Amino acid sequence: MQISVTRNPNPAVKPDPATLGFGRIFTDHMFLMDYTAGEGWHDARIVPFGPLSLHPACTALHYGSEIFEGLKAYRRADGRVQLFRPMENIRRMNRSAARLCLPTIPEEDALEILTTFVSFEKDWVPSAPGTSLYIRPFLFGNDENLGVHSVHHATFAIITSPVGSYYKEGINPVKIMIESEDVRAVRGGTGEAKCGGNYAASNRAGEKAEKQGYSQVLWLDGVEQKYIEEVGAMNVMFKIAGEVVTPMLTGSILPGITRKSCLELLRKEGYPVSERRISVDELAQAMKDGTLEEAWGCGTAAVISPIGELCYQGKKYTVNGGEIGPVTHHLYDTMTGIQWGRIEDPFGWVYPLD
Ligand code: PLP
Ligand code: COI
Repeated sequence: MQISVTRNPNPAVKPDPATLGFGRIFTDHMFLMDYTAGEGWHDARIVPFGPLSLHPACTALHYGSEIFEGLKAYRRADGRVQLFRPMENIRRMNRSAARLCLPTIPEEDALEILTTFVSFEKDWVPSAPGTSLYIRPFLFGNDENLGVHSVHHATFAIITSPVGSYYKEGINPVKIMIESEDVRAVRGGTGEAKCGGNYAASNRAGEKAEKQGYSQVLWLDGVEQKYIEEVGAMNVMFKIAGEVVTPMLTGSILPGITRKSCLELLRKEGYPVSERRISVDELAQAMKDGTLEEAWGCGTAAVISPIGELCYQGKKYTVNGGEIGPVTHHLYDTMTGIQWGRIEDPFGWVYPLD
């Protein structure tokens, strides 16, 4: 692949790792590539990070033709940089693109672009404990035309951002509100695609929860509003009466790569694990009778986030005394250990860049 490079003439000073937070600081460059129907992808380029110029009729702005991904580059103690399961993100990105009738990118090309660009920005991968370089690939329809149709022009971009923890709580338990009015997605819709519209639809409930002191909402299914789906930016897992349970993938939940990895890890270690429907009534009962032993969310940005309190229909339930439980702790230690290269990766998940 030909990727042209225009260097940023004014590289920024790297930020103090203590001030990182999530997604507020960007690196010196970005990757861009254009698509034209009949011609395919062209003009792959690394350019200085900066504003994009878009036609005011751009499809993404009017009809939400946009999908994205999220993965991280981790700096090991020996200074080397590695990605975590990048092919999983590339495959999911192409599935999301296909769902929205956006053009896909051949997997090998996408991997070459990703590794070339992240290697180019490698000095931006921070090394302080718990920090990483968040990688945000996104792809959007870029037709200059208000007709509603699948796109003829598209843009693929990658921006990168040095990050610390997603939640201000860090590894401390977060409080989650179970949402019983709005729904995020329905079967047959776009719930399993990582498209911007899903997040726009989530904002109203998220805002309501935040006003009441909760970090995010836990969604119920969009048909009966009875079954647990996922949290705003992470999948969810529970330990109920000794068993780890998580909602099965029904088409309306994002198939998280952290979710998949946690399940593979727990199964390899012999934990009883099940992917099934979990009704909110079952969860409420388990909260009341104390069989809900642990709850946590998992995602690239969120890592493994213990849930210390759940609120449903105005009733508050504390999980594991508001403390991180042993399985949550074990998953956090093992997943972050593999991602940052502190412990050996028996699965072949890590992808070294150097
Ligand atoms: N669910 C939603 C809605 C998300 O935004 C994310 C984050 O990407 C996840 C789940 C977790 O997915 P992953 O583990 O692939 O980051
Ligand atoms: C991620 O974990 O990569 C996500 O995309 C979550 C995000 C919406 C912040």
